[in-house]
Amino acid sequence: MSDDNRVYFFDTTLRDGEQSPGATMNLAEKLRLARQLEVLGVDIMEAGFPASSQGDFEAVQAIARQAGDIQVAGLCRCIPSDIDRCWEAIRDARHPRIHTFLATSALHMKHKLRKEPDEVVRMAVEGVKRCVGYTANVEFSAEDASRSDRDFLCRVVEAVIDAGATTINLPDTVGYAQPDEFAEMIRYVIANTPNSSRAVFSVHCHNDLGCGVANTLAALKAGARQAEVTISGIGERAGNTSLEEVAMALKVRADLYGLEHNIHTEQLYPSCRLLAMTIGQPIPANKAIVGANAFAHESGIHQDGMLKHRETYEIMTPQSVGRSKTDIVLGKHSGRGAIKNKLESLGYDLTDEQLNIVFEAIKNLADKKKKVLDEDVAAIVLEEIYRIPDSIKLRSVSVSTSDSGKIPPTAAVLMDVDGEECSGAGFGVGAVDAVFNVINQIVKREPELESYTVNAVTGGTDAQGEVTVRLRDNGYAAVGRGSHPDVLVAGARAYVNALNRLEKKERDGESKHCQHC
Ligand code: KIV
Ligand code: ZN
Repeated sequence: MSDDNRVYFFDTTLRDGEQSPGATMNLAEKLRLARQLEVLGVDIMEAGFPASSQGDFEAVQAIARQAGDIQVAGLCRCIPSDIDRCWEAIRDARHPRIHTFLATSALHMKHKLRKEPDEVVRMAVEGVKRCVGYTANVEFSAEDASRSDRDFLCRVVEAVIDAGATTINLPDTVGYAQPDEFAEMIRYVIANTPNSSRAVFSVHCHNDLGCGVANTLAALKAGARQAEVTISGIGERAGNTSLEEVAMALKVRADLYGLEHNIHTEQLYPSCRLLAMTIGQPIPANKAIVGANAFAHESGIHQDGMLKHRETYEIMTPQSVGRSKTDIVLGKHSGRGAIKNKLESLGYDLTDEQLNIVFEAIKNLADKKKKVLDEDVAAIVLEEIYRIPDSIKLRSVSVSTSDSGKIPPTAAVLMDVDGEECSGAGFGVGAVDAVFNVINQIVKREPELESYTVNAVTGGTDAQGEVTVRLRDNGYAAVGRGSHPDVLVAGARAYVNALNRLEKKERDGESKHCQHC
């Protein structure tokens, strides 16, 4: 692979992605996703913003310690205390990178930073020098670059490269740029910064006008060689550039771009799926590359064309993005060896104790469902292994419902609350309402149910239902997830999971940090 044509993928799902409403992850979930980013072939992962909270610091440190050959970046403002804290968190990684940022647009300098341009240049240089005192792998981001004066941008970029920055990131922080002008800006800065050949140019695009991917691709054509992206495009506000769309555009249209990358594209679907299940936000059906409809051909003309020659209506194969339909199916006769192999092929590296738990759960599911597919296995691992330890546990739920209108839907629930067995029974407008009412009665709280979604993990009437709920109480919001072949049980699990997360947030006094002030 020639260095000139190599695009580096910088994934910020664990940092900018986590700023997406409702996408907070606990430590075990972050570690699991970080491992998957390595399997996916990401070059650099941004693990978090260590100075923003103690929880973020600990997560970044744990990710850095677990990481293999991937570069691990930590984000920090251009201020000494942030930089020191960032280094402390990432120093144990094999390849640490400090990513420091400072705004360069007149708007941000005047109203947010309240600093004169000369002072901003000085802060940027001093910040980068401090980073270089820790590591040679330093990235500088000129926040709001797309709305910055181009000549001032060149001045800042030249100064920070002289100070030792090796990657220069030019973000479209507010998703304002359009592809032609964004590409033009990249060309301009590279051409008009005398020492630009000493750094890799990077872009980081937000999706407020739906141009994140288009802007990123245009910038790569114009000479940028690092793309900052997130899985499924999650991120602040309307999100960031989606990793899978850029990776596949570069692959499918290699004739146009002539650029290469290290993303193992058959890991795209498993990665998006893992994220969706972790944050409890299902992949929209029409999402490019990974949505349920992305390879579905509905119209008769299209189906006919596909039967005659696949390429009439398909520009890439489902297998190339990891959506093989050949999932080898586990059943109730599968042994531990087969299940262990399946878990390894899906990228799960479990301890013996975890393997036993998953083995039992797969056997239980296989008693109820004929075929246990890859998606079922992934759902089980998330359900059984990557949950925070619950102080409220659901032991059993029973529901009766009828359409006569004479007897209201009734639920009975048995739970453990802080180690004590508790039970209750009650009614509701519908079966789901009855179950949630009884759980509320047992835990003595009444959170607001902000959303409730049901998804089938696979096809078929015996498919596992995957329920996601979002609860809000006392100013905190939490997402919970549950899966089970019976959607009412899945709903009860999701509700209890969200209650546990809500309690944890209240205990930790967790607050959403502001990354841009
Ligand atoms: O959007 C942005 O400008 C950022 C920077 C911190 C890179 O997220
Ligand atoms: Zn951003």
